[in-house]
Amino acid sequence: MRKSPTHVRRSGSSASSTTSERRVIVNTRTQVVIVGAGPAGLLLGQLLLREGIEAIILERRSPEYVLGRIRAGVLEQGSVDVLDLVGVSARLHKEGLIHDGVEIGFRGARHRIAFKQLVGKTVTVYGQTEMTRDLMEARTAAGGASVYEAEDVTLHDWAGSPRVTYRKNGVTHEIACDFIAGCDGYHGVCRASVPADRYKKFEREYPFGWLGVLADVAPPWGELIYANSERGFALASLRSPTRVRCYVQCGVGERVEDWSDARFWSEFKLRIGVDVADEVTHAPSIEKSIAPLRSFVVEPLRFGRLFLAGDAAHIVPPTGAKGLNLAVSDVFFLSEALRDHYHEGGEQPLDQYSARCLRRIWKAERFSWWMTRQLHSFPGDAFARRMQETELEYLFDSRAAQTSMAENYVGLPLS
Ligand code: APR
Ligand code: PHB
Repeated sequence: MRKSPTHVRRSGSSASSTTSERRVIVNTRTQVVIVGAGPAGLLLGQLLLREGIEAIILERRSPEYVLGRIRAGVLEQGSVDVLDLVGVSARLHKEGLIHDGVEIGFRGARHRIAFKQLVGKTVTVYGQTEMTRDLMEARTAAGGASVYEAEDVTLHDWAGSPRVTYRKNGVTHEIACDFIAGCDGYHGVCRASVPADRYKKFEREYPFGWLGVLADVAPPWGELIYANSERGFALASLRSPTRVRCYVQCGVGERVEDWSDARFWSEFKLRIGVDVADEVTHAPSIEKSIAPLRSFVVEPLRFGRLFLAGDAAHIVPPTGAKGLNLAVSDVFFLSEALRDHYHEGGEQPLDQYSARCLRRIWKAERFSWWMTRQLHSFPGDAFARRMQETELEYLFDSRAAQTSMAENYVGLPLS
C-alpha cells in the first residue's frame, strides 16, 4: 500500500499574510521529511530511495560546512553491510583500511585485542567525512531532493498531519508529509519540538574532554592504540596511510588556543609512548578541536509521526567508536519500519521502532561507558583507580574478557 502522492507541488505558490509582511509560501508534499544531512539523514535518504519512498532532506548548513566537520572514523562490518546495500561503498572498499584488532597501552606495555582471532570480525577505518561525501554524491546522482542552508526549519502537527516549514533565500516553504525523521543531531530542532514531559532523558557528563589533532603524516602505528597513562588517556588513530588523528584527554574548561602543536605532541608522546609517537610529532596540525564527553539517551524515539535517529536521540562518548555506527543502525531500522508500514499498512512496524533501536543503543552506551571508565583518569578517586587497574589486568589475562570487548567493538548484530 502506498499512502501518498509524493513530492507534488500542491498549489505552486500561494500568498499568505503575517502581521508585518506578506510572504510567499511554496507548498510541496512528500512522504518523509528528513531534517539533517549528517550521516544519519543522508543514509536514511538512500535507504528510502531503495524502497521507493520519497523524501526531502532539509539541512541548515551548506554542503561544504557539513563536509568540513571532522568526526569519527571506524565502521563496524554491519555498517559497511548497510552501505553495500544502498550501493554507496565503492570508494570505502577501495580506500578503507581493514583493522583486525586494536592495542591498549598501559604501564609502558601494549596489549593487543585481536578481533579477528577472537570473534572472526574486523572493523574498517574510513572517515565519517568521506562517508558523508559518498552519500551526498549518491543522492545527487539519484536525483534525491535536498535543501541546504534551509533556515528556521519548524515542525508543525507532528502528532497528527505533519508539515515542516523553512526559509530559503527569503522565501518560506511548507512541506506536507506523512512522517518526519529527526536526524538533526544533538542540538537539532526535532527533539526540541517535543514537550519535555513526553520523553525521559538519561544522561552522564564526564569531567574531561578530548583534544583532537588531525595531521598529514604517515601513521607509524598499524592499528589504533588506546592508552591509559598516569597523565590521562590518549588515542593514536588514523584516517588514511598519510593522515593521523590523535587525541589526548583534557580538562572540560580547556581552550584550543592554549594548546600549541608543540604542547599537544609533547603530551601525546608522554602518554602514548615515545617509541610510537616520535615519527609524527613534527607534523603541523591541519585541524585541532576539543569535544566534551557525554552519554545521553532519550526514550522513546517515536512521537506520533516524528521519529528521532542518530545523535538527535543519543550521544555516546567516542571511546568505543560507536556514534556513527549507531546512527547507521537507527536509520536502517527506521527504513525497515517505514517500508513495512507503506507495504503492509498499519502502525505495528512503526510502534516497534523505538524498542528495536533502544535495545542496541543501550548496549552501545554500556560499552562506550565501560571503555571510557577503563581508560581515562578520574582524579581523586583512589578506589576507582584500583578497580580500573584490576579491570585492565583482568582484560589482558582473560580470553573471555577480550572476547567480550572484541564482540562489542566490532559491533553487535543489527537485529
Ligand atoms: N535544521 C536543519 N538541519 C539541522 C538543524 C536544524 N534546525 N539542526 C541541526 N541540523 C543538521 C546539522 O547541521 C547536521 O548536519 O543536522 C545534521 C546532524 O548531523 P550529525 O550531527 O552528524 O548527526 P548524525 O547524522 O546523527 O550523525 C551521527 O556519529 O560520529 C558520530 O556524533 C557523530 O556526527 C556524528 C554521529
Ligand atoms: C577517530 O579516528 O577519530 C576515532 C577512532 C576511534 C575512536 C574515536 C575516534 O574510538
